[in-house]
Amino acid sequence: MHLSRRLMLSLFGGVAVVSMVFTLYQAAAEMHAMRAEVERQALVLAESQQKAAELALEDGSGGGPQALASQFQNHEQMAGIAIYGANGQPLAMTPGLASRLESGVVGTPPAVARAVREGRVRGEFFRGRGVPMHILALPLSADGRRLGSIAVFHNVAFIAAPVLRHALTSVIQTLLIVGMTLLIVRWSLGKPLRHMAQWLHDLRIGDASASGQPPQEEIFPPLAREMKSLATSLHVARAAAEEEARLRNAASSQWTAERLRIAMQGKLNGSRLFAVSNREPYEHSRKGDRLAWSVPPSGLVTALEPVLRTSDGTWIAQATGDADKETADDFGRVRVPPDHPQYTLRRVWLSKEEQAGFYFGFANEGIWPLCHMAHTRPVFRSGDWEYYRSVNRKFAAVLLDEMSAEAEPMVLVQDYHFALLPRMIKERRPDARVAIFWHIPWPNAEAFGICPWQRDLLDGMLGADLVGFHIQAHCNNFLETVDRALESRIDWEHFAVNRYDRLTTVRPFPISVASNGNGEGATSADADASAAERAALYRDLGGKPLFIGLGVDRLDYTKGIPERLRGVERLFDLYPGYREKFTFVQIGAPSRTHIRRYRDLISEVEDEAERINRRFRAGAWRPIVCLNRHHSHAEIQPYYREADACLVTSLDDGMNLVAKEYIAARRDGQGALILSRFTGASHELADALIVNPYDTDELAQAIHTALTMAPAERNARMQRMRAVVQENNVYRWAGNLIGELATVRLAGPTQDTRHSRRDAPVPTW
Ligand code: G6P
Repeated sequence: MHLSRRLMLSLFGGVAVVSMVFTLYQAAAEMHAMRAEVERQALVLAESQQKAAELALEDGSGGGPQALASQFQNHEQMAGIAIYGANGQPLAMTPGLASRLESGVVGTPPAVARAVREGRVRGEFFRGRGVPMHILALPLSADGRRLGSIAVFHNVAFIAAPVLRHALTSVIQTLLIVGMTLLIVRWSLGKPLRHMAQWLHDLRIGDASASGQPPQEEIFPPLAREMKSLATSLHVARAAAEEEARLRNAASSQWTAERLRIAMQGKLNGSRLFAVSNREPYEHSRKGDRLAWSVPPSGLVTALEPVLRTSDGTWIAQATGDADKETADDFGRVRVPPDHPQYTLRRVWLSKEEQAGFYFGFANEGIWPLCHMAHTRPVFRSGDWEYYRSVNRKFAAVLLDEMSAEAEPMVLVQDYHFALLPRMIKERRPDARVAIFWHIPWPNAEAFGICPWQRDLLDGMLGADLVGFHIQAHCNNFLETVDRALESRIDWEHFAVNRYDRLTTVRPFPISVASNGNGEGATSADADASAAERAALYRDLGGKPLFIGLGVDRLDYTKGIPERLRGVERLFDLYPGYREKFTFVQIGAPSRTHIRRYRDLISEVEDEAERINRRFRAGAWRPIVCLNRHHSHAEIQPYYREADACLVTSLDDGMNLVAKEYIAARRDGQGALILSRFTGASHELADALIVNPYDTDELAQAIHTALTMAPAERNARMQRMRAVVQENNVYRWAGNLIGELATVRLAGPTQDTRHSRRDAPVPTW
């Protein structure tokens, strides 16, 4: 126990020094006070005897002063008094006093000599035969004549006693404090430290029991947190290594983070990867004195994050957190993820007006409803369009700056916020390989054609070498839209657009999640839901129902949430046996709430839930529980793992990653997915219960089917869907997208220039 011996010595030394300093200070103060008291008492006594002594000296008789001095025998601390003549010679002394004084003092003590000479009270401390003494001398006079002096002697040995007492107290105090501290350290630090050491040891030697939570020691939260991330990293690294070995052994073609990293090294050839999106992957905020960070609810962020982690690239995005500035450097750069930095986030700040015109206005009131067939009318304002253009220019300038030192960089522009960016980049950097990935649907040409700036948008996108959508149908719609709106040659055989001597390839790349089924890309949250998590979940639900249905969405009108609730209502009508047995949990993250349509949707969802609850509620049971706040990925995991059925009922959706996240979370092979046929995901997940979300009866039937399905069938369906998600994971998405982009031939015209520049040039930026 080296630690405790060293700890004990240093504790002892530290406490002893502190205690000594205080003791000395206290003793000095007390001695000072006692000495002052002795001087005061001596003066009082001398003054009380002054008159009597002067009379005795004036009498001239020797008996007078001696009689006076003799009165002061047998006092404990007052040793006696003495009366001296004008020449300083002792005339009378308390009996026994002389024997207590040194010979020099028996003659004329210095204090007496000074008192007689100066005619003032004089006092001093001295040692008389080794004993500490005090003398106070008061001059005696009559009619202006100096008669001599009266001196009061005190034995002051008692003054040293407090010092001893204090020293003793100090030693006892030191021992007590050190003893108590050692006991406390042993009890409260020693035990948790031993636990943690044991846990780390188990983790190192690969004991499975250590791979979960570290010991929950309340006094070490930061340490426990760090250990937890260490364990997660180790766990993930081990799982990845094992998975790589397994795949290599099986000569499997499955994509993993490692495979993507190696593939990208080859494709990038020393260059960096740049991604641009409006939504940033990490927002920093201030909570009192504390800085916190969170991942915003966005399918784009969910998918792109593992790719950036793998490539150590740069992600340019809008700063939206209230503490984003203070956590970034002067250029707006910050390494992320905050708890395990792996790539660079470059933040771009927008003014309120830019945000209103570009983001809320053109992107979310214009393009979003334009591309989603959800029966909300797009609104196009020329002011918003101007902001859309200028913000695209702003991001282009930042991107050009970031990649100024890189030759032949690869750029992945993300989504409908940046349709103009590809051309802006390509004009300045023809050596850049540029792709734009459109995360939302692309409607048919007639529908898109209502946008007054459709040609500008298409032209901006065609600046890219590669345009990606989730499914082939969106690619086809896009090509048809280009065909109708712009002069260009569409190569339907190769799905490409030839315009201005440049070729843009259009391809489907179905996006996905990081799952590969073996824990890779997983966080500790993927570990089985702990009993505590489950207990908290059922507390939120007001008890444990027999069946749970789940919906997880941004509160967006494209997600079909009111339709879903009506499907649940219909279930209780058609099958009353589910009453008090089935609870539907809707996790909804408020979104874009500056836009009225989104605020209206929140009220509509709340009203519908309230109405249905009023109809069916019984005792503590409510058929619908709405949890309308942003939940982190980790917080959602226990819901995924507990839900018997997950309902994805979008009216129109590019892909929908909730469907895939749910499948990835079901390692137990349980649970059923009810999936709208209007999602991109439905093209891959044939084993889901595919529904038309507008058909309330069909929805209700699908829930009933999900809850009553034979376990073997449920398991078989889930296993097949898991195989699809594992095979078509986000690493494959990125690998295919980047692989395709890497094949782009830079510079030089395309083979076929027959149809170039036939239409009016679109203004450049
Ligand atoms: C969709 C879009 C993303 C967007 C996300 C969240 O998934 O494709 O680009 O980030 O919705 O929306 P928000 O407006 O909050 O970023």
